[in-house]
Amino acid sequence: MKRTLFLFAALCAVCVGRSQTPVYLDLTAPVEERVEDALARLTLEEKVALCHAQSKFSIKGVPRLGIPELWMSDGPHGVRAEINWDDWGYAGWMNDSCTAFPALTCLAATWNPEMSAIYGKAVGEEARFRKKDVLLGPGVNICRTPMNGRNFEYMGEDPVLASKLVVPYVRQAQTNGIAVCVKHYALNNQETRRMNVDVEVSDRALREIYLPAFRAAMVDGGAWSIMGAYNKYRGQYCCHNKVLLQDILKGDWAFDGAVITDWSGCHSTDEAAANGLDIEMGTGSDGLTYSLTNAYENYYLAQPYLAALREGRAEMKELDDKARRVLRLIFRTVMSPDRPWGSFGTEEHAAVGRRVAQEGIVLLKNDGILPLRRESAGRILVVGDNATRSMCRGGGSSELKPWREVSPLQAVEEYYGKENVSYVLGYEAGAPHYGRVVEPGSDAEQLRREAVEAARNADVVLFFGGLNKNHRQDCEDGDRDTYSLPFGQEELLAALRKANPNIIVTLISGNAVQTDWDVDARAVVQGWYLGSEAGHALVDVLSGEVCPSGKLPVSFYARLDDCSAHAFGEVSYPGVDDRVEYKDDILVGYRWLAARKIRAKYPFGYGLSYTSFAFGKPAADAKVYSEDDTVRVGIEVTNTGAVEGKEVVQLYVGKPKSAVKRAPRELKAFVKESFAPGETRRVELSFPIADLAYWNEATGSWCIEKGTYTVYVGNSSEAAAAVKIEVK
Ligand code: BGC
Repeated sequence: MKRTLFLFAALCAVCVGRSQTPVYLDLTAPVEERVEDALARLTLEEKVALCHAQSKFSIKGVPRLGIPELWMSDGPHGVRAEINWDDWGYAGWMNDSCTAFPALTCLAATWNPEMSAIYGKAVGEEARFRKKDVLLGPGVNICRTPMNGRNFEYMGEDPVLASKLVVPYVRQAQTNGIAVCVKHYALNNQETRRMNVDVEVSDRALREIYLPAFRAAMVDGGAWSIMGAYNKYRGQYCCHNKVLLQDILKGDWAFDGAVITDWSGCHSTDEAAANGLDIEMGTGSDGLTYSLTNAYENYYLAQPYLAALREGRAEMKELDDKARRVLRLIFRTVMSPDRPWGSFGTEEHAAVGRRVAQEGIVLLKNDGILPLRRESAGRILVVGDNATRSMCRGGGSSELKPWREVSPLQAVEEYYGKENVSYVLGYEAGAPHYGRVVEPGSDAEQLRREAVEAARNADVVLFFGGLNKNHRQDCEDGDRDTYSLPFGQEELLAALRKANPNIIVTLISGNAVQTDWDVDARAVVQGWYLGSEAGHALVDVLSGEVCPSGKLPVSFYARLDDCSAHAFGEVSYPGVDDRVEYKDDILVGYRWLAARKIRAKYPFGYGLSYTSFAFGKPAADAKVYSEDDTVRVGIEVTNTGAVEGKEVVQLYVGKPKSAVKRAPRELKAFVKESFAPGETRRVELSFPIADLAYWNEATGSWCIEKGTYTVYVGNSSEAAAAVKIEVK
């Protein structure tokens, strides 16, 4: 009888959860209760199994308790095609063609948090539909040099811009019951030697430049996971870096989610155990096919960790902390009771991508040739490899398989009429390839001659050039070779110019390039990588259907040497002997240019419109502020042109007399608003005095300096109109 009762009780426990902790089956119980309940039921082995991969993109869950696998996917511009369980090959599914959204540099160039919100919501819906629980993105590493092959996956050179744009993406994506995984934490500012370069950076630069966007994503956005970077920081790998993970992320920022490695970013069981890594994912090991010695069970946080725990070399309370965080991630996502269903590859999502792209395209130069109206365009010659190349392919892990990708040529033909458009390649840029540089095979002279000949017979030349997603262009695992335009494009432009002066250049790139050749162009448009609707969005702007309103999220340096990262020689970029010292300190991007009085070719925050704007004098709501106050600055903006347009009003602050080193100006606030032709409106910008604080290295805390500050308001980082304020 006793035995029967016991069996009955055991059966009940399995079916309905332990009687003393019934919340386990109650999906509506608060996540923390569910976490504690589940944790109490896990064996040591089950806890450890939560801490490492079981395949390229999943962890195991706890099958015995019905806790499902957790599935991840790249990110960040769409949901990547399905990858094999055990290797990097694509699985060849027929139903995984996603919507490709514009690359994050373009999102940053919108300077519009609303764009970030619709982007995050849509990409989250795609991830949800594809049954992904963690979307690997967005990335917020600061663009320190335009040579970084991965800048296109990030949000520009300014911590405030990146912070304000990352938050809506994170919040909206996660409303789908999927977690974002913000990457790559931290200081992954170059791809050259990314796997082990050791970054030495001052505390101030770390806190003021490189971390704020991560902090915003975690603290204000509430991101549920974060990815450790490959590189080291002060001698320790970022994936198990005590300062970054324990002290700052989990300490200062009270992050309660999971830290996931970049793939194969873990190098030590002891450090991973003690320093706050929660999930180890990998690239090199092939778990089930040919190399059993390299299987997932041999990951640092798998059997070696189990052994360390059993032998008392690792602490159980650290393991519990990891398991708790992974369970929390699971309960917030795959075991969340109220997940929406998501949607995938829809026209609505394509439309979101198109809107973001339209707002992110930046007009750099225009002598009046743009907009190119349909009625007056005449015979159009399209030139360039980027007019037809898929920009969703390549680039590394952010590569996408879109259900549609409209090329510039397609869209030009569609809009202006096929009969009015002809196309020549003009130069060759090599087949899409990840992992090696592909040398063009054809005769450059011949291609150039053909293009020049065709240009003679055209009314206007639409040149689509720039970079591409091949290795050592805009691509993971390698930085660019040259700052100038590759593949002989400069020579081609000069030759075309002689045949036809009406040249409109659209640069497709995720990075700034040298633009001395712009004298050969009547207009220059910065087109980024725009995803599924690339061609449509570009033609929307070129044709004037949409008035351009994007602003540069990065400085276009006249010369590479003008960039702070390159001003101190090799030691400061790309480093010597696997060590890079950020000698530019807090003076990154336009901050450096302003400090050294170097003019950018096209400055941070700059972008033209088809209308024009006039600014009044800025006025602050007070003269003197105390530390807890918020400053409100008003300025009159007038649309002085003939068409409706959006303008980004930007506010920068400097402190001319300061006890510490300071950038002459730093972005503190911005708003993007639309103005009808002739309309004048007062625009208000605000920022808390707390945002003026610098990181005091001696005290290890934020410090607000008293005294006079200058507030600059205008439509680029070179804005001149100023008002003084006092902090007492
Ligand atoms: C990249 C990550 C990516 C991961 C998985 C790594 O090589 O650095 O950004 O999420 O691979 O594909």
